[in-house]
Amino acid sequence: MNSFEINKIIASILLVVLLVFSVNKLGDIVFKVEKPKVAAYKVEGVAATTATTSSNTAEAVDISVLLALGSVEKGKKVFKKCAACHSINAGGGNKIGPKLWNVMFRPVGAITDYKYSKALSSYGKEWTWQEMNGFLIKPAKWIKGNKMGFAGLKNDEDRASILLYLNENSDSPKSLP
Ligand code: HEC
Repeated sequence: MNSFEINKIIASILLVVLLVFSVNKLGDIVFKVEKPKVAAYKVEGVAATTATTSSNTAEAVDISVLLALGSVEKGKKVFKKCAACHSINAGGGNKIGPKLWNVMFRPVGAITDYKYSKALSSYGKEWTWQEMNGFLIKPAKWIKGNKMGFAGLKNDEDRASILLYLNENSDSPKSLP
């Protein structure tokens, strides 16, 4: 091989490198895609904030929006899921779970003749709309270590209805927020 041939080989290698490089560059220019600054979809409303609860997101739920989805009549039906373990009528007794007449806005774990778990008896808050909503989505997650054997009410309409129903079954139902 003489030096002329070697030069030719080097030249053609360079040419290929140059070609690949410029095609790459061209591709960048032609196919340059702007990343959108805002995600294309936004999920609005109650469902988005309640579905996967860390306690913080559930706290942000707009309770008046949620409650508007439910009705007391529907709540009465949904309560069948709770009735195996809870009484709801005035003067009802404890069952597997504590009696629930007057439960809204009373302190958590307040029935004196019911033996609560430590988790509930030491929780130290009241059953506000927010607390009850968060608890009923997924009881085991909202108050860790409680002994209510119930998976939760994921459906917003069902949960809203139960909140209204619990509120209604009270000596003094609160007006809605
Ligand atoms: C399998 C039985 C069971 C079912 C079903 C059940 N619960 Fe309970 N619930 C319990 C038990 C047990 C406790 C006490 C938990 C503890 O002490 O940790 C409890 C506690 C509660 C409390 C706390 C009351 C208080 O005095 O602080 C509320 C509120 C409640 N349940 C609401 C409901 C609602 C509403 C439903 C239906 C959607 C339901 N529960 C379904 C067993 C049940």
